[in-house]
Amino acid sequence: MTATTNPTSSPGGSNHTLFVCKTCASVWQEGKRIGESGGEKLLQQLQHFAQDWDLREQFPIEEVECMSACNRSCVVAFTAKGKLTYLFGDLTVDGCASAVLECARQYYIQPDGVLPWAKRPEALKKGLLARIPALPLM
Ligand code: FES
Repeated sequence: MTATTNPTSSPGGSNHTLFVCKTCASVWQEGKRIGESGGEKLLQQLQHFAQDWDLREQFPIEEVECMSACNRSCVVAFTAKGKLTYLFGDLTVDGCASAVLECARQYYIQPDGVLPWAKRPEALKKGLLARIPALPLM
């Protein structure tokens, strides 16, 4: 996995990553995936929006095969050194990409990564699957 980061411009010197499951919302037939999955479509939309995103270098998008929340697709996670890790599910393929990047910005500017419910974009007010404590910064 590669992550392009710029720790000097990141609050708290954190390295951020937006994980996106590309297998979510797949259609399977006889053990094979048919066509493009919902996760791949969401990933493409995020990558498209991120082309003009000022945090694209500090907050790279990484595709992953699965985050074990398959029955709550589509699934993304925000993570950074020294911050809480958030896992969100139930994201729709259409209309969520800009909300995910907006939420990523909120996560980025919070030194501890806390994302209060009231401040999150509508699409991420529900579907919170996990909020994992941060490892201490070394
Ligand atoms: S297929 Fe997306 S979390 Fe498992």
